[in-house]
Amino acid sequence: MSISDNTSLQLPKENPEAQDFLPLLGTDYVELYVGNAKQAAHYYMSAWGFQPLAYAGLETGLKDRVSYVLQQDKIRLVLTSPLKSGGEINKHINAHGDGVKAIALWVDDATKSYGETVKRGANSYFEPRLLRDEYGQVILSGIHTYGETVHVFVERKGYKGVFMPGYRPWKPYYSPKDVGLRYIDHMVGNVGWNEMNQWCKFYAEVMGFAQLVSFDDKDISTEYTALMSKVMSNGNGRIKFPINEPADGRKKSQIEEYIEFYNGAGVQHMALATDNIIQTVTSLRNRGVEFLTVPVSYYEDVLDRVGEIDEDLTPLRDLGILVDRDEEGYLLQIFTKPILDRPTMFIEIIQRKGAKSFGKGNFKALFEAIEREQESRGTL
Ligand code: FE2
Repeated sequence: MSISDNTSLQLPKENPEAQDFLPLLGTDYVELYVGNAKQAAHYYMSAWGFQPLAYAGLETGLKDRVSYVLQQDKIRLVLTSPLKSGGEINKHINAHGDGVKAIALWVDDATKSYGETVKRGANSYFEPRLLRDEYGQVILSGIHTYGETVHVFVERKGYKGVFMPGYRPWKPYYSPKDVGLRYIDHMVGNVGWNEMNQWCKFYAEVMGFAQLVSFDDKDISTEYTALMSKVMSNGNGRIKFPINEPADGRKKSQIEEYIEFYNGAGVQHMALATDNIIQTVTSLRNRGVEFLTVPVSYYEDVLDRVGEIDEDLTPLRDLGILVDRDEEGYLLQIFTKPILDRPTMFIEIIQRKGAKSFGKGNFKALFEAIEREQESRGTL
């Protein structure tokens, strides 16, 4: 299914306080700068079930970089590596390791989105530019957000090509089966001490977002570590950006560990939605993806906390899937270990069964699991 299929857009008001002056139609793609895009692409295909979609590199006329585009239902990843030394991508990788450079947002009008956000105080990443080929045209523009992360606005009015001008179809012989991942549920940013409110203000004032929920250090603390988090969302609720900052604890928090190894603010995790978390996580585990586990004791009283659920408890316990409930329903979620050598980015798998929240009831069990990992890295 193509992300650009949806032409008659109804934008329900999920977050009535947000002003959708852009408006954002969805996440168009997430671009990661990585040391070795060819091998990273193989990992996301073989372990995560992404399908090869498009390619740009020396063969398409690029001189200094290469990009592979992968897709699974509505999720598109772009993996980009430099081909020469000393450029902007090299500097990014040197500073941060592999990580998310761009969260690209699908809009009706990239020129207006750029103008409106820059007028409201966004720093320009690049001015609107028109890309054209035989399949149509795409307009891109970009602004900076936290750390060295950027948002690219993508206007693809009826573009018929495989991804965008400059890319050619990529059809390797190897094309693995997907694992049932459907769309990006949310993308979380970690920012430094006392920077959370500043970045929430950025999303409110510059992007027209409103706050959905917040968690303070009393919600999210263990004996050792704490963090604070606010969730910002756009008007139609399709884009949700929780922002975390460290809070004082007896030992170093996972957010501080991230900031230290990422060398600044950046994307902490992507949450990818599935309609069948048991199947998805079983496939991912069989393909080598490593998840955080919670003690078996978590499952002894979980149903007392969350009430009736449709799933059998046994596979949830065997896989380490967590459950939480809010006023509107429940959700199932699980988190990978960091997917890179630096303890920075990880991926969450989430299945929502009515719940619109983020698993607050699991934070404590989860953070204790993360601390056990930090302990083994000597970074707690
Ligand atoms: Fe999350």
